Parts: sequence; structure tokens; C-alpha cells
Amino acid sequence: MIRLEKVRVLFNQGTALEKVVLKNVSLAIEEGEVVTVIGGNGAGKSTLLNVLTGDINISQGRIFFEKTDVTRWPAEKRASMVARVFQDPLVGTCGSLTVEENLALAFYRGKNLGLGFALSLENRKAFVTFLERLNLGLEKRLKDPIGLLSGGQRQAISLIMAVLAPMQILVLDEHTAALDPRTAAFIIQLTRNIILEKNLTVLMVTHSMHQALEVGNRTLMLTEGEIVFDVKGRERSKLKEDDLLRLFKEVVHKTGEEDEILLNS
Ligand SMILES: Nc1ncnc2c1ncn2[C@@H]1O[C@H](COP(=O)(O)OP(=O)(O)O)[C@@H](O)[C@H]1O
Ligand SMILES: [Mg+2]
Repeated sequence: MIRLEKVRVLFNQGTALEKVVLKNVSLAIEEGEVVTVIGGNGAGKSTLLNVLTGDINISQGRIFFEKTDVTRWPAEKRASMVARVFQDPLVGTCGSLTVEENLALAFYRGKNLGLGFALSLENRKAFVTFLERLNLGLEKRLKDPIGLLSGGQRQAISLIMAVLAPMQILVLDEHTAALDPRTAAFIIQLTRNIILEKNLTVLMVTHSMHQALEVGNRTLMLTEGEIVFDVKGRERSKLKEDDLLRLFKEVVHKTGEEDEILLNS
């Protein structure tokens, strides 16, 4: 189980720009739970993910991965526990390295081994197998710099890279938001397949109400740094996209957070 206990995040502490971005957020994610997160612009969604990855220091509270208190662990130390895919396909991959070099780096995330070692013949074969399954012809492009691929191809590889090494939780930050609707749908299908196959625990931020209900088994809404809605099980299965949208509009309207949601995508 991954547990946040009364987590508070402040930016620009002690200055006139001080802002509370997460207020006392408590959240327990069970093993195998796939949680989607929605919320207006600036609600604190990415911050919540950054808290898990260790990219942001929290001001108060505790973070546990199983029984281990990782509150003060930096991102490098959590690298073998958390995997991540970003919104921008350019961020999660290194454009000047080849497809196979990117995969090799991902394979050894959190371990201290050289790239040469990671590019063993055996691993190369494994990479080909992963890529073949995407049906994008990428298995023939192992030696191409990844920067030559399209956003969708790159995001598909980012996803595969994220799950190459074992982890306790996968975090996805609007990982289809930069893609056209068809490519986004492809990446979502790929995401669902990978989650199922590997039985992953996931926290997925999305601005699509459709994705929020289509993917996973639990949905959270974050507003002004607070979880205002947390639904799973039967209650969630009864929920329609329209219900979620209505709720979202109500909440966002109250706070004045910009609403950037997408319907049917
Ligand atoms: N490094 C930072 N310094 C100061 N403010 C930040 C920083 N990162 C994010 N914020 C602010 O924190 C709030 C929440 O940001 P974020 O978690 O990125 O929101 P979301 O992902 O929900 O759109 C926003 O108001 C944003 O401007
Ligand atoms: Mg964000």
C-alpha cells in the first residue's frame, strides 16, 4: 500500500507568493488499485504525483511505501519504486539517444549499471518483442534516434519504458493530453492492457472525464489542493460521464479554477 498522511505542500514559503498547493491530503492506495485523478488547472494534480516521486519536498505529513517511510527520500532513491510517464512525449525519453538506448536506460532504472551492459543481445531481443506488440513497426527502428519518432510513437515507448523495471506504483500525468484523439485512444488502450497484464498499481491524472471512468477502478477529484471526491466500487460503476462532468463543473465553478476538460476523448 502507498500512503500519504496529511501531506501539505507549500510553494514559495515565507515570501509574498506563498501558496498552499496541497492541504492535508491523506490518501491510501491499495496494491492493484488503479486510480484516476481529475481536477481543474492548478488544482495540485501534478504536485500530488511529484510528492509520490519525490520531486517535491513536502512541508508537513508523511509518505509510506508499504511500511517504509520515504518522506525524506529524494527522487533518485525512489526510482526503483515509482515509474512515471509525462504529458510531453519529449520529456520521458531522450531524443538524441536511439530507441534501444532509451529502452536500455529504462530497463536499469534505479540500478547502477552501464548502458553497454543493458544493451546485451538478450535485452535487445526482449526490446524487439516489446516493440513488435505495439504494431507500429518500431522494432525495425531500434537504432534510430528516438527524436525522429512521432509524439504517439514516443509516448508508446515512454509507457513501455516506464514498466520495464519493477515498481510499486506507476504515475501517469495527462500522458495523452498532447496527442490527437486517435493516438490518445491508442495510448489509453495500451495503458489499460499493460496495467492488466502487469497487475500494476497506478495513479493516472487525466483531463478527460471519459478516461477517468474508462480506466481503473477508483476516481478522485482534486480541487485547490484537496481531495473533494473519491469514488470506487458500485458507486463508481453507476457514475456516467455526465454525472462526473456536472460534479466537476460545480466544484470548478466554486473555485474559479480553469476548466480544461475534454468530453468523449
Ligand atoms: N515549482 C512551483 N513553484 C511555485 N508554484 C508552483 C510550482 N509548481 C506548481 N505551482 C503552483 O501550484 C499549483 C498546482 O500546480 P499543479 O500541481 O501543477 O496543478 P495541476 O497539475 O493540477 O494543473 C498551481 O497554482 C501552480 O501554479
Ligand atoms: Mg498538471
